[in-house]
Amino acid sequence: MKKARVLFVCLGNICRSPTAHGVFETLVAQHGLASVVDVDSAGTAAYHVGNPPDSRATSAAAERGYQLDHLRARQAVSQDFSEFTHILAMDEENLRELKAIAPANYAGHLGLFLDFAQCVEREVPDPYYGGEAGFGHVLDLVENASMGLLLKLQQVPR
Ligand code: 4NP
Repeated sequence: MKKARVLFVCLGNICRSPTAHGVFETLVAQHGLASVVDVDSAGTAAYHVGNPPDSRATSAAAERGYQLDHLRARQAVSQDFSEFTHILAMDEENLRELKAIAPANYAGHLGLFLDFAQCVEREVPDPYYGGEAGFGHVLDLVENASMGLLLKLQQVPR
C-alpha cells in the first residue's frame, strides 16, 4: 500500500480531531500499518495550542481503549499541505478555513472526514459546550469513518 500521511482537523484540536487522531492511530497499529500510515491532528484556531485534549474526550476515548494523553494541540498551517496526503475536516466550517490556506495546486485529498463513514451525518458535531453524551457520539462517528478511511487507503489504485 502507498504511504499515507493523514491530518485530522477541527476547531480547537482538543475534542474531535485528537479523538480521530487516537482512534485512527490505534486502528492503523492494530492492522500492522504504522510504518506506512502517519497520523496527526490540528485545529483551525489557536486558542488551545500546547494543551492536552479535553479531559472529557480523553475519558470517553479511554473507555473504548484509545489513549489520547500523548497529544498536544497545534494550529493547522499552510505547510501542512506540503506534508499530508489526506487533510480531513470534522465539519464544513473547518473545511472552509482549510481551503482558505490551501495552495491552489494541492494534489492531496482535502475533504470531510465523514465522507469515509457509512452514516447520514456529514459533520462531526462540536461536543465542547455539550454534555458527556456528545463525546460518545463523536467516538461513534469517528470509529465509523476511521474504518472506511483505512479500507480506502488499502484499496489497490487502478
Ligand atoms: P474541537 O472542540 O474543535 O472539537 O476541539 C472545541 C474546543 C474548544 C472550543 C470549541 C470547540 N472553544 O471554543 O474553545
